[in-house]
Amino acid sequence: MFEKFKKSQEYLKKAYTFIPSATQTFSKGPSQWPTGASPNFIEKGLGAWVWDVDGNKYLDHLMALGAVILGYGNEQVNREIKKYIDSGVIFSQMHPLEIELSEKLVHLIPSAEMVKLFKNGSDATTAAIRAARAFTGRDHIIFCGYHGWHDWYVATTSRSFGIPDFNKELSHQFQYNNIDSLRSLIQSFPNKISAVIMEPVGVEKPEEGFLEEVREICTKEGIILIFDEIVTGFRFHMGGYQSICGVIPDMSCFGKAMGNGMPISALVGRREIMKLFETHLFVSGTFGGEVASIAACCKTIDVLQDENGLAKIKFYSDRLCQGIRELIKAYRLESYMDVKGYSSRSILTFLPQRSLSVEEMKTYFMQECIKENLLYFCSHVPCVSHSENELTFSLKALDMAMSRFSQSIKSGDLLDKIESKVIEPIFRKA
Ligand SMILES: Cc1ncc(COP(=O)(O)O)c(C=O)c1O
Repeated sequence: MFEKFKKSQEYLKKAYTFIPSATQTFSKGPSQWPTGASPNFIEKGLGAWVWDVDGNKYLDHLMALGAVILGYGNEQVNREIKKYIDSGVIFSQMHPLEIELSEKLVHLIPSAEMVKLFKNGSDATTAAIRAARAFTGRDHIIFCGYHGWHDWYVATTSRSFGIPDFNKELSHQFQYNNIDSLRSLIQSFPNKISAVIMEPVGVEKPEEGFLEEVREICTKEGIILIFDEIVTGFRFHMGGYQSICGVIPDMSCFGKAMGNGMPISALVGRREIMKLFETHLFVSGTFGGEVASIAACCKTIDVLQDENGLAKIKFYSDRLCQGIRELIKAYRLESYMDVKGYSSRSILTFLPQRSLSVEEMKTYFMQECIKENLLYFCSHVPCVSHSENELTFSLKALDMAMSRFSQSIKSGDLLDKIESKVIEPIFRKA
């Protein structure tokens, strides 16, 4: 255990007493980091940098799981939030800003005719599923990838305890870029599929014609196509990836970066479907219209547009990915690691070895990056504050980590050099 992380360790011990898994969010928790050789509690952030509770300073690339798009503590957003905090953040009736933001989103997002605001991405995806079921009168869902913590999705995972079994029978997974896997599910449940929900792009690029074919099949079969743009929205394009690929879903879900870290998400979609929230559905929450987060979102949109923020992120990300690829090549680690993804959202993946698991390699690599003050999760979702200085810093830290990784492979003692518990997958493979 490192003296450097003494306070983190003390907090962790206490957190386990009061908080299951010591965290509200699995990916932030101790099982996902080289705990003991990494910080666990962060006290403050500025731009792309954070300080842990022991006073160590780190460059971050995970940015609160992609929620912080401008940078921590952005002054313009903060000023706006404070303005609304001073005049009250929640009331007994609606606030005009709800209309202002909804109108902005309708202008920005091709699939948006009406908007419902929420707090978490899961709220938006779950509301979308309910609306699709109501609109079609069908119960089954086809999904692809992660969509949040609600029953209809988690039923299909290894953490499905507490969820009635029938949910499992209604949710079916297809593979991205595999149109036959979608077709085959639709054939297996004729006239029973209400929705196809998917990220339009993940770390894999859509193959030519794939998204268009998904759209065509859904239209033909009367299935509601939902794009989960929780990550891609406000990262690839202000109007989501749909603005880039030109395939327009019936409904889309946005979240994460919308409010530069303030809790806000949105479901947008075709008017005739969204109108069901007026007549047939009950989807309503105390904090949906909370004003400080809505103000933060309006300001985040303005700043991203004024500063051409998303182009800056892409420019940074392209060079980061290129730099990592060059390092992998220089250290001849091609059979151990790879950079995947679109530039604004990419990951460093590890390739399973006979004598080393992916988790073991990842733990060691994260540990070595953290020694270089890079708070590295092997996911890159950079923000506008990542610039030249941050790029130089990152590549130098990654160079050091890769050099040590390569040495350990050669000497065959990587496992002995892991100074913490090995990270654990959140969902076990079936
Ligand atoms: C693609 C995708 N959809 C939905 C969600 C759920 O969002 P939240 O955690 O805000 O509920 C996430 C969260 O990571 C996500 O990555």
